[in-house]
Amino acid sequence: MGIPIHFENVSHRYGGSEDEGVGVVALDDVSLELEAGSFTAIMGASGSGKSTLLHIGGAIDRATAGRVLLGDVEISRMTDAALTLVRRERIGFVFQFFNLIPTLTVRENVRFPLDLLGTDPKARAARVEEVLQRIGLAHRAKHYPSELSGGEMQRVAIGRAIVHRPPVVLADEPTGNLDSRTGETILELLREIHRLDQPTIVMATHSDHAASFASSTVRVTDGRISREARKP
Ligand SMILES: Nc1ncnc2c1ncn2[C@@H]1O[C@H](COP(=O)(O)OP(=O)(O)O)[C@@H](O)[C@H]1O
Ligand SMILES: [Mg+2]
Repeated sequence: MGIPIHFENVSHRYGGSEDEGVGVVALDDVSLELEAGSFTAIMGASGSGKSTLLHIGGAIDRATAGRVLLGDVEISRMTDAALTLVRRERIGFVFQFFNLIPTLTVRENVRFPLDLLGTDPKARAARVEEVLQRIGLAHRAKHYPSELSGGEMQRVAIGRAIVHRPPVVLADEPTGNLDSRTGETILELLREIHRLDQPTIVMATHSDHAASFASSTVRVTDGRISREARKP
């Protein structure tokens, strides 16, 4: 089950400081409430702040101003160590360029988040096989990322993102590096995960078609929310 994500007056600046007025303002006073179990598409031009928003919501980066809550936990006030734990337990992140670990097999990549959490080895193995089935790659379990197609690599990345049953799944242009037919299978997999597990999913995308898989769309322009729309 998903948890809500709240952004309250969140700003983010890369480099420089508020006083100096230099650096890049990637997010500018963003307030956004994403309900538990919702599936939201974040749309906007390149450089509009989509990745920054996902990184801050996913505890990968910390906002330079404002409050961010995952469920009832305020992550914007946490120490780095606490943030790392939140990320491991509550977040699954899917990157545009897959970011698999090249020296690990498909099975080991999928298992990696459970290894970090140190869950019971027997349960861990069973869960990994279940996820390999679900992403349709059980037959490739012993292969390395370099032996896979882009679509297969992204399926492994999705497996790794959901193996620990995180309440929040963030996907940053997950189909941006795939042809449209392969992208379709990735979107269908995300939809299936949403239907079965009901995590809160936030997906950045350029594509209207990809966004149509989500139940609402948030548009970002120059670091600000410019429009929110919900599917009827
Ligand atoms: N690490 C960084 N250092 C400096 N500026 C950055 C960094 N990451 C992103 N930016 C800038 O912040 C703005 C928003 O970037 P980003 O969130 O990556 O947008 P999007 O994902 O929509 O393309 C852009 O102007 C980008 O150049
Ligand atoms: Mg981006």
